Amino acid sequence: SGGRPAWLSQQYPEVCQVDEHGRRAPHSDRHNHCRTSPVYRKKCHLINTQLAERYKTHPALLLWHVSNEYNGAACHCDLCYAAFREWLKKRYGTLDALNKAWWTTFWGHRYTGWDQIAPVDHSINGLILDWQRFISDQTLDFFLTEARPLRAITPHIPVTTNFMQPNVGLDYWQFAPHVDVIAWDNYPRWHRDDDVVMAAKTGFYHDIHRAYKRGQPFLMMESTPSGTNWQGVCRPKRPGMHMLSSLQAVAHGSNSVQYFQWRTSRGSAEKFHGAVVDHGGREDHRVFRDVAEVGAALTRLSDLIDTTTQPEVAVIYDLQNEWAINRALLPRNQDIDYQQTCIRHYTPFWKRGIPVDVIDSAQDLSAYKLVIVPMLYMLRGTFAERLEAFVRAGGTAVATYLTGIVDESDLCFLADAPGPLGPLFGIRREEQDVLHDGHDGLLQAVEGNALGLSGQYNCRHFADVLRADGARALVEYASDFYRGQPAVTVHAYGQGEAYYIGSRPDETFLSDFYDSLSAKLALQPALATVLPAGVTAQIRRSDAAEYVFVMNFNAEACQVDLGAHSYMDALTGAACPPLLDLDGYGIRILHRARST
Ligand code: GLA
Repeated sequence: SGGRPAWLSQQYPEVCQVDEHGRRAPHSDRHNHCRTSPVYRKKCHLINTQLAERYKTHPALLLWHVSNEYNGAACHCDLCYAAFREWLKKRYGTLDALNKAWWTTFWGHRYTGWDQIAPVDHSINGLILDWQRFISDQTLDFFLTEARPLRAITPHIPVTTNFMQPNVGLDYWQFAPHVDVIAWDNYPRWHRDDDVVMAAKTGFYHDIHRAYKRGQPFLMMESTPSGTNWQGVCRPKRPGMHMLSSLQAVAHGSNSVQYFQWRTSRGSAEKFHGAVVDHGGREDHRVFRDVAEVGAALTRLSDLIDTTTQPEVAVIYDLQNEWAINRALLPRNQDIDYQQTCIRHYTPFWKRGIPVDVIDSAQDLSAYKLVIVPMLYMLRGTFAERLEAFVRAGGTAVATYLTGIVDESDLCFLADAPGPLGPLFGIRREEQDVLHDGHDGLLQAVEGNALGLSGQYNCRHFADVLRADGARALVEYASDFYRGQPAVTVHAYGQGEAYYIGSRPDETFLSDFYDSLSAKLALQPALATVLPAGVTAQIRRSDAAEYVFVMNFNAEACQVDLGAHSYMDALTGAACPPLLDLDGYGIRILHRARST
């Protein structure tokens, strides 16, 4: 259903999306159908029924991949508006409840009829947030409609759809229970800026996909064998990078490496996109050989499919929070960088090879030792109570500035930040300073602080002026009118501890802070060694065996000291030497039985 023929748009204009100003899009492109249209739903149901009937006994039928890369783009047609209003009636029951949740009295925007509601008024944050939730739900409903005939006719065949990077306007956490296996399309921009930074970001994305179904392996549905053709500059992968980036997915939990595309098309939009076989149709070139080598490696790694990772650390990255915070109109709106901030808090663990789950705020916390909550502006559901219970029972939580500001409807808590989390963190925010670019603030570690932090650090963009209310300061501000007030605090709570970082600190701080916390909590890295910069290690294990993927994202070769630990090389079967050589963009997969 991702792409449709022109005759369909011509015969049934309702399948084309309508924009905010009521203009229906002409037929073009793909991934742009109305997800409410009964006609489009019927046609997709029909075609899927026929596919399932035709191929139901075919021996090559292993998995249904429904549609392609659903996205969160809006359609403003009458059908969508009617469905949205029904969705709202179910959520709020009465207009009074809706007016209150959206605070429409402000600017005199109170609704007196359901049919007045149109998701074009961006001044009502709650309305636009609910509209995005509706689009996500409607897209899920469309997927379920597509999957229905497949599940009815071939109940033994699993069904999936390919997700993309996680900020496309769909709440993939709602999709996850409805797909039989998670699949996603992975297109990192290698060789553009810093490959190590890109690798950490890609690791973060993979870890979300492993977490969507609580540690179950996923599929990398698409990746390019070479370059793409949709970036400003689409560089082919340098030697080594294809094996490295393919097996990076496997290291984080993928049970497949799949490609877009097999052979480059001769014409149209993607005729210059990388492929296994290029226009020349040859096997004797680098890309084909790279792909063949990955295939051979995967064959030797078949035992991996029953392994996974159970991290002790979780970073909360909440998609609905992202929709809300990006539209909140805060004192500083430049560089809100919610996702990037979550990645910055993830990266110190990635660098040390400590496995991390990336989850949203609705997930169970009880399996973790450490839960990191960057910028969780919106506290949904029972999250505040669950985080409190987690710490009370002995867990460690870290939250940052811009946490605990609004409820699920984007209504501010009638309390100082971090709202209902105030007693847990033992602080209250008296004021929030925001800083211009280039006007960094200064932090000073408190003498004798419990994490052994020392010296000064820079901070930028946001600075909470905090009052300790039970918490102790680990770091104080060393600049501006709040000099000497707490910037980073710790609060002993129940059996656990709650840390609060009031400003956006530099990388050195995050590295020192999480190093010290990891040591204190005795977090287990994949490999018990100090990894060189730009090298990470990720682990997959079963009861019987463990595999450690040691990956060098530097262009230069390096060595990793394995010390007295003995491993076999999973690809060659040979014993690994104590000093492991890694080529530039090199990867080694270490293997050992669990009992040793
Ligand atoms: C997406 C699509 C593919 C193709 C690739 C190109 O992932 O699903 O059809 O267009 O991008 O990179």
